[in-house]
Amino acid sequence: MLKNRQVGLVGTGNMGEALIHGLLHGHLCRPDQILCSDVRPERLKAIREKYGVKGTSHNTEVVKQSDIIILAVKPQIMKQVVDEIAKYLDLSKLIISIAAGVPLEAIESCAKKELKLIRVMPNICVSVREGVSAIAGGKHTQREDLMLAKTIFDSVGKSLFIEEYLLDAVTGLSGSGPAYIFLIIDALADAGVKVGLSRDDTLILASQTVLGAAKMLIETGEHPG
Ligand SMILES: NC(=O)c1ccc[n+]([C@@H]2O[C@H](COP(=O)([O-])OP(=O)(O)OC[C@H]3O[C@@H](n4cnc5c(N)ncnc54)[C@H](OP(=O)(O)O)[C@@H]3O)[C@@H](O)[C@H]2O)c1
Repeated sequence: MLKNRQVGLVGTGNMGEALIHGLLHGHLCRPDQILCSDVRPERLKAIREKYGVKGTSHNTEVVKQSDIIILAVKPQIMKQVVDEIAKYLDLSKLIISIAAGVPLEAIESCAKKELKLIRVMPNICVSVREGVSAIAGGKHTQREDLMLAKTIFDSVGKSLFIEEYLLDAVTGLSGSGPAYIFLIIDALADAGVKVGLSRDDTLILASQTVLGAAKMLIETGEHPG
């Protein structure tokens, strides 16, 4: 539980929405503890109506009012966002960035101050609460901060701790991994259609096979090879 801490989300796209869903579904916080911002008013409206969370078009408001701030904008927007919010950031706030390929050092040097930062690489499967996220702490994070981040990302799947220098490897493996698996499922389904099965049936057969195979490995602990 995040007790009475306020959670801020900058960016309510695919990942932002998945995290809101996970936080609420896992009863980690109440809707009124979440404040999110986005440049798209229609997106913000939809998220507010669907989840009952608070929304603002000002990223700075999110930062001012939150104890934990999750930066969920595209990597190329990060500098612009950090420039905008830097004035309101300090070591009392925990900042979690999920932007692929953006080192914690780059965020700190952009903000021109020391910050309590955590970098996380989740994957798109967080949208069905079966994601996997690798969490790396920055130089000012304490064990309590890391555990807080783990609680958040465990609400949308599983998570583990790693050193920050390994996060790009994680991006290539599990961060982008769902795309490889979709290709495999698509190929299996195409092959099924070629030998006479219907497209609908092949997609069920291929998807459930991948799900079952993964579950077997997780539950038995056996090596896939
Ligand atoms: N999707 C994945 O599989 C995945 C996996 C791991 C990590 N990540 C990371 O997660 C982050 C978010 O990815 P996503 O897929 O959720 O992206 P997304 O769907 O594009 O969501 C980002 C949202 O932020 C909005 N935005 C743009 N500029 C903004 C600003 N200045 N202030 C506030 N909001 C702004 C975007 O609006 P516009 O659309 O108008 O720009 C969009 O609604 C990225 O950094 C990505 O590297 C994604």
